[in-house]
Parts: sequence; structure tokens; C-alpha cells
Amino acid sequence: MTDSNLSNELESLKEAAVAKIAAVTCSDEMENTRVELLGRKSELMTRMRGLGKLPPDQRPAMGKGLNEVRDAITAAIKGKQAAIRKKELSERLENEVFDITLPGRPIGMGRSHPVCSVLDELMEIFIELGFMVEEGPEVETDEYNFKMLNFPDDHPARDMQDTFYLHNGARLLRTHTSPVQIHAMLRHKPPLSVIAPGRVYRCDSDVTHSPVFHQVEGFHIDRHITFGHLKGTLELFIHRLYGKNTKLRFRPSFFPFTEPSAELDISCVLCGGGGCRLCKGTGWMEILGAGMIDPNVFEAVGIDPEKWSGYAFGVGIERIAMLRYGIDDIRLLYENNTSFLKQY
Ligand code: DAH
Repeated sequence: MTDSNLSNELESLKEAAVAKIAAVTCSDEMENTRVELLGRKSELMTRMRGLGKLPPDQRPAMGKGLNEVRDAITAAIKGKQAAIRKKELSERLENEVFDITLPGRPIGMGRSHPVCSVLDELMEIFIELGFMVEEGPEVETDEYNFKMLNFPDDHPARDMQDTFYLHNGARLLRTHTSPVQIHAMLRHKPPLSVIAPGRVYRCDSDVTHSPVFHQVEGFHIDRHITFGHLKGTLELFIHRLYGKNTKLRFRPSFFPFTEPSAELDISCVLCGGGGCRLCKGTGWMEILGAGMIDPNVFEAVGIDPEKWSGYAFGVGIERIAMLRYGIDDIRLLYENNTSFLKQY
């Protein structure tokens, strides 16, 4: 083959390819054309593979020519691809119209459960006062739940009636958060002020009782702590929670782990003290139990009651939430009916 024959032939191969590329109108077609012109079965590649079979003196010229054709085709494809992308993009921009005046799809907002809101609020008050947060296990022993809290062996609260026993009585579900007092006093040396939230369990269920509910235990141990400290702290707490006009009344009571013990009543959150259905006409509502930590409890954990004194209190969170929001059936708090929960 003469040099001029060769260059004519390669020239027409290149021109045919470039014309084909120029006629392409979309990206799918572009890809097919690319494979046809540069793929393994293309004329160009077939010729390149055949180079080795040519007489040695023809190989350099043919090789160089084929490379030039390949570079020209590659450049034409690149140029065409860019043009097609640009064309297709402007077509999309013209055709795909967004109606920005359409209303958005509403996203349902989650919210805090009333029990969680009240618990958070209560914890915040005591954390601000410098109380530290402690937690204890929900599965307890008689030792922690009762014995070290100075419950006599025959105390009615140990009845199967109230307590869920596990493992043939070797363990139980804690009936109150007071055993956290014991854990904390064994873990830390006084002075000590602790707030302990948690789930508690009682074999009891009606409109105001749930077998699982929440309590917060609080206590403060230092030198010369008196009932006055307890009153002051609870007053501050109640005023923060229910407002400054709420009145407080301490009634003598009994708990094995405090001496003296009291129950705290507050003026009815609904009628303010005049008497209504919520307070059963008395004007007062019982809100929590409290007292001065019994010396027997101190002795059980190795704290010297001659040197240290302290107060303790225990609050039911569901009760606080029900009074706060005027909910009259505790079960509403656990049914997870979103229409009910949305109100709070
Ligand atoms: N543990 C008691 C209960 O569940 C509540 C209680 C009363 C806790 C008096 C205290 C307290 O710390 O001093 O009924």
C-alpha cells in the first residue's frame, strides 16, 4: 500500500466516524456510537489488532495513522458529549417545573410525655440546688428495699399484696426508690445530697394506681440538718412547681425509715383551697412523704447518727403530673393514645 493510499483510507475512516458523531442527538445514542467506533469490535480496533501481521516496514506509518484517527474520534466524542449534556440539562430545566406555591407536607412533631416533662422539671429544681443524681437497681433484695430501711419483719408493706417477689422471694421488684438511699449512703460519705429518679412496682391497679410508676427520692445528710431544712427545701420545690401562692401543710405520719415522719399536703391546685371535686371538698391534696432519716438507717450503713443528721422525701411523679395537668385516670398516661398525649 502506498503512503497516499494509506492516508486516504484513514482519512475516510476518520471522516465517516466524525460524521456519525455529529449526527448523534441524545446520550443513549452517544454511548452506542462510542462503542461502535472505539469498542473492541470497531473497525479501528480491528485494524490496530492487525498491526502485528503487517510487513514490518509498513507498521510505523499505519500505527501512527491509526493513533491519529483514534485521537480525532475521541476528541469528537468528548465535544459531542459535552454538547449533549448541556442540551439535555437545559431541556430538563425548561420542562421540569416546580410549583413553589404548593403547600408542604406536614411533619408530625414528637413531644415530651407528661411524666417525662414533670420529671425533667423536678430534677432540674434539685440539680440547681446542688443535689447529685443517683440511680439504683429495679430488682432489689428484701435487705435494701425493707430491712436496712428499718422495716420490722412483720411490717404490712412486705405483704405479697404490695410487693412483686421474684425467684421464690429471694429478689423483689423495688416498691419505692427509698433503697437508693441505702446504695448511695454505702457508696458515698456524708455530707451528701442526692436526688434519685426511677421506676417502682406495686401489685396494685385502679384509676389512681398503676403497677409500674415513677418516684423521685431525695435526701440530704450533713451536720445539724433539721426539719426546718426539709420544710424550706420542699417549700421552694412546691412553689417552683405549682406557683408561689400554693400553701403547704405538714401532717404527722409514719414511715419506718424516718423519724419524725410527715406527709405534705398542698392547697388544691384546682380550687386554691375552697374545696372541689379534685380535693374531695377538703381544699388540700396529699403530695409526698418525708421526714428525718431514722438513726437505725444511719447505723445500717455505718454512718454515725451522733455526728450526722438528714432529711428524706419521696414523690410520686404520676401524681404530680396528674395534679399538674388535671388528669383523673392514671391509665391515660400509659395508653400512648397520641390524641390524648398531644394536649400536653
Ligand atoms: N418510700 C415512700 C413510699 O413509697 C415515700 C417516702 C416517704 C420516701 C417518706 C421518703 C420519706 O424518703 O422520707 O411511700
